[in-house]
Amino acid sequence: MVQVRVEKAKIDQKQTSLLVIGVFEGEQDFSQSKELDPSVLTYIKEALENKDFRGTFGSSLMVYTLGKGPMKKVMLLGLGKREKFTDEMARICAGKAALRAKELGPKEFSILQFSNLDEGLVEAMTEGIVLALYSFDRYKAQDKDTVRIEEVTILINSDSPRFSMIAERAKHVADAVNFARDLGNLPPNDCPPAHLASIALSLAADYGMKARVVDRYELENMGMGGIVAVGKGSNNPPKLIILEYSGAGDAKPYLLVGKAVTFDTGGISLKPGDKMDEMKFDKCGGCNVLAILRAVASMKLAVNVVGIVPSVENMPSSTSYRPGDIVRMYNGKTVEVLNTDAEGRMILADALSYGIATYGPKAVIDMATLTGAAIIALGANVAALVGNNKQLTDRVRRMAEKAGERVWDLPLYDEFHEQIKSTHADIKNIGGRPGGAITAAAFLSNFAGPGPWVHMDIAGTAWTQDGTYERSYNPKGATGFGIRTLLKLLGEEESCSSRDGACPFSQ
Ligand code: BES
Ligand code: MN
Ligand code: ZN
Repeated sequence: MVQVRVEKAKIDQKQTSLLVIGVFEGEQDFSQSKELDPSVLTYIKEALENKDFRGTFGSSLMVYTLGKGPMKKVMLLGLGKREKFTDEMARICAGKAALRAKELGPKEFSILQFSNLDEGLVEAMTEGIVLALYSFDRYKAQDKDTVRIEEVTILINSDSPRFSMIAERAKHVADAVNFARDLGNLPPNDCPPAHLASIALSLAADYGMKARVVDRYELENMGMGGIVAVGKGSNNPPKLIILEYSGAGDAKPYLLVGKAVTFDTGGISLKPGDKMDEMKFDKCGGCNVLAILRAVASMKLAVNVVGIVPSVENMPSSTSYRPGDIVRMYNGKTVEVLNTDAEGRMILADALSYGIATYGPKAVIDMATLTGAAIIALGANVAALVGNNKQLTDRVRRMAEKAGERVWDLPLYDEFHEQIKSTHADIKNIGGRPGGAITAAAFLSNFAGPGPWVHMDIAGTAWTQDGTYERSYNPKGATGFGIRTLLKLLGEEESCSSRDGACPFSQ
């Protein structure tokens, strides 16, 4: 795994095989630079004279210093227009730099701070580098000659230890995202619910958390009708995975619930074959929750967090649940199943009501690849938020903005509940095409209790398809989308509860 350090820049002396220098569009005039070794500067100027590099976003120019300076190569990296530069642009540009550096094959490289130094910049550059260098190659023949980048140094114009701490935290966050990607990318034959359960148990052992895995027969005894119904069509039995991190004494915990359908065929309401393989990513919400608990524990945040991951495989077989079945859920409500492909809400419902009854949380957030309708509503780069508490929803949106992830909220008006009324049961599990992402959330709200709750539908953003959620730092496959947002929220929770013991959602 790559290490990222920040260091006070002495770039005229920095021994490095590659130095990356970001250049804003139209600012490619290096004549004023006093910091660079004069011989290196000469090569840069020459290269600039002979090329039409202007610093446009996405462009780059390699300069070879022929051993004259302390660095062997310099990469000029276009940052685009200065007015348009944000932390997210810094994340994308640092990711691009890392990917290009990887092609060149050095074991380490250095990168100059892109713009004015602040915490957001260091965080974004660190995340961009670590996230972009991720690859999922455990199923590929290993090429002994490939050199991996082991260390990256961000050169900054301050020696305050604050920035090292920021980079260290950002590294924990990016490592958590990569951990979730590793799980999400696992093929369904190697990742049944039992595998996720064993991952949770080893996380608990490694990081000092409490873990509990509820097996199929216990689920039945406990009355978790939703999880049992969806899970019973598969030979890989369902698991309810619970991880508890306690870093704040007896404070009320945040409850995070993540959908982990290790493969979603649709069940008896079978999906079409085209792109069905992508339904291995239907476990990403749950993988994210496991990764968040890992990060919170590795950073030792002073908060309490409970993660609950209902995990099933949704298969068609002679033991599957069927359209027409009426299922009694953990909280006693009955659900008429009209489509077995609306399985995510069935398992989340039990996990939500069990978690709320057991832990009395301060707030509840669930993450799920729940509906294709969320993609129709907001596209594949924006996750849908639906909740019952404006302050909590607003706070998640604000945290997402800070983290460089896109979310937007959809309204949970009363009339959406009409669409899921059932003739013979309390509710039914589908509400028709109109507002499909909202009716799914309306279903969940029957199990989310009266306290603050928000649902994140990550169906579009959980993995990259062609042309979707593309960023330099998101390689093809699982993205870990949502982890950065929730870790921001829990980080903020820690800082305000250490001030006065209370963290209003509206802060
Ligand atoms: N896992 C799918 C949702 C999904 C679809 C995520 C495509 C990402 C891409 C979910 O279980 C599902 O099948 N939802 C149905 C619900 C419908 C039957 C009411 C859907 O969206 O079509
Ligand atoms: Mn489904
Ligand atoms: Zn699903």
